[in-house]
Amino acid sequence: MVTHKQCGDRVLGVYDCQLIDAEKCSMWMRGVGDGYHRHVAQLTGEIPHMPQIQQGPNAVQEAGRQLRQGGLVVIPTETVYGLAGLTHSPDALIGIFELKGRPQDNPLIAHVDSIESAKRLTDRWPASATTLTTALWPGPLTIVLPRSQDVPPIASAGLDTLAIRMPNHPVAQKIIEAAGGPLSAPSANRSGRISPTTASHVLDDYHNIQAASDLLIIDGGPCDQGLESTVIDLSGSLPRLLRPGTIGRGVIGDLIGPLAKDPLPSSQDASPGTTLRHYAPIKPVHICQQSSMLALLDQGGNAVVIGPSTIVVPPQYTHLQLPIDPMDAARMLYTLLRQADQPSTTHIIIVLPEGDQWEAVRDRLSRAAT
Ligand code: TXA
Ligand code: MG
Repeated sequence: MVTHKQCGDRVLGVYDCQLIDAEKCSMWMRGVGDGYHRHVAQLTGEIPHMPQIQQGPNAVQEAGRQLRQGGLVVIPTETVYGLAGLTHSPDALIGIFELKGRPQDNPLIAHVDSIESAKRLTDRWPASATTLTTALWPGPLTIVLPRSQDVPPIASAGLDTLAIRMPNHPVAQKIIEAAGGPLSAPSANRSGRISPTTASHVLDDYHNIQAASDLLIIDGGPCDQGLESTVIDLSGSLPRLLRPGTIGRGVIGDLIGPLAKDPLPSSQDASPGTTLRHYAPIKPVHICQQSSMLALLDQGGNAVVIGPSTIVVPPQYTHLQLPIDPMDAARMLYTLLRQADQPSTTHIIIVLPEGDQWEAVRDRLSRAAT
């Protein structure tokens, strides 16, 4: 237990929104997009430092300065927040793997602020890359191409290929410019946790990690897309979709023709890190149709249901509403999962609509359903 220095309340950790009455303490704020109160104040005593959330032009310049010196900074993008370091600084990249607790064989995405910069990271730039990037960059599309010899092998965990994308977020673009070069960044969650879509999600993951006590988190607001980018491999003879996202396979197929027919990779072999565990929240997740929800609830426990407002959930269970529109649902998905994943929750039941436009959401949820 620690004492909060503003209100004197005793709390279990940096965030104990359950334990403190919001009215009692002026250092409460509403979590971005969370819909419930969060305790963001620094506590006295046992936790002397924690990551700092900053925003605005000075914060961007400070982020650039730290990155140029080989440091790590959490940056906002339109998909999810990323834990960034200079692509050309092997030491920074080692730091990313260590701080995130990321398996060494899981390659990173390099973030650029122009197509010209992307071309410098690869040995081969096929016509399909020109077509896709002209139409869809900046945006939530990552392309995989042969890695240039100038790029440190650790940037792609030793693979001969490199994943590259140009984020469509003004703050991300300004930070890449201020850093003076491409930034490698995985999603900023600690390994095994859900990707963060707000700055406070990032703080949730790192507030009690000693090595993150000086970490700078740049707040760019809630992520517009809310799901990680679509990843497409252009290094082989036929383009191959490695990870679905809000840019669907139909849009890509219309631009560059047929994609390889293979099923999505289900193991680390084809796209390391896309294993089921990678996106898992702490509590078990069950995905079901509306018709089987009651049977799952009857199995007991303190379930939280995430599903459309049209379903009827017995009043003793918490029902978090999933937007009807797939893009809105994608934007809210990780916030809802984090909200559902409370200490009192025994399991999370997700009632998901049918249809192709739900592919990306379904993909992420099937990864969470461990
Ligand atoms: O939206 C996004 O993509 C976010 C933001 C921060 O840009 N980043 C992100 O990074 O989701 P991460 O590391 O969590 O996921 C990157 C995915 C992993 O599944 C990884 O295995 C795959 O991309 N990947 C990266 N490089 C690859 C490569 N050379 N070949 C195949 N897959 C690769
Ligand atoms: Mg990730």
